[in-house]
Amino acid sequence: MKIGIVGSGDIGSTLGLLWAKAGHQIYFSFSHDEAKLEHLAAEAGNDSKAATPYDAVRCSEVVLFSPPWRAQDEAIKQVGRFEGQIVIDTTNPYIDDQMNVQQFGEKDSSSEQIARKLDGAKVIKAFNTLRDETLRARTGQGLVIFCAGNYPVVKKNEVAQLIRDAGFVPFDVGPLHEGKKQEPGTDRYLKELTLDEARRLAGEPADETDGGRAITGEISTEGQKQPAR
Ligand SMILES: NC(=O)c1ccc[n+]([C@@H]2O[C@H](COP(=O)([O-])OP(=O)(O)OC[C@H]3O[C@@H](n4cnc5c(N)ncnc54)[C@H](OP(=O)(O)O)[C@@H]3O)[C@@H](O)[C@H]2O)c1
Repeated sequence: MKIGIVGSGDIGSTLGLLWAKAGHQIYFSFSHDEAKLEHLAAEAGNDSKAATPYDAVRCSEVVLFSPPWRAQDEAIKQVGRFEGQIVIDTTNPYIDDQMNVQQFGEKDSSSEQIARKLDGAKVIKAFNTLRDETLRARTGQGLVIFCAGNYPVVKKNEVAQLIRDAGFVPFDVGPLHEGKKQEPGTDRYLKELTLDEARRLAGEPADETDGGRAITGEISTEGQKQPAR
């Protein structure tokens, strides 16, 4: 698959390289340092490339949106419009260097705000709860990545497969609004959880045949409805 990275920093470069190892072609973009993007592309192989955010999005089937929260508008400006792609949003709403977090009302959340700004994108929140060093050190060890989004099963399954390709276990928490439960300060944030631990935390049956929403095969259709507003 062709994957565009908008924000090739700690998380973007880590995931780009993990996906390249799984055979994907990566378009690294959005850095102040063009040489860094070229170096990442060379390390990734698979005919991966350094690109502008605009080109990275146009060349890709799935996009990882991973700028700092404070640089989101600049990144969006450089992308322009998305073309219907799935966009995996990794951002956390840190508003300053003191790690203060933007507050959202009960009916809103960080990824819903991002989704309103990303014209033409199908936003799914994922990969925002584990540190980049954890992703590198613990790939292939059965840790869960929570994902939230309003899109049909077939679209979420593409993200689920990319989570597996990075060496993690997808856990569908339902609509994008549910992503609020994995923002900074929640009990899912920065937690290295196995599938059983994640199920317990989510208050779901330990066994998926009992109706749990964790995804070991196909993503359940449960929770696909739009969030109540
Ligand atoms: N790091 C983590 O462990 C972690 C974990 C989960 C979620 N997140 C979230 O994921 C997002 C990315 O985090 P990160 O730690 O990967 O951030 P980061 O290392 O600071 O990387 C951000 C990337 O965006 C680029 N960038 C920022 N402002 C730019 C501008 N004005 N013009 C061009 N490029 C610009 C940076 O360029 P340079 O290459 O020049 O620096 C860098 O490539 C954040 O929203 C963060 O909250 C981070």
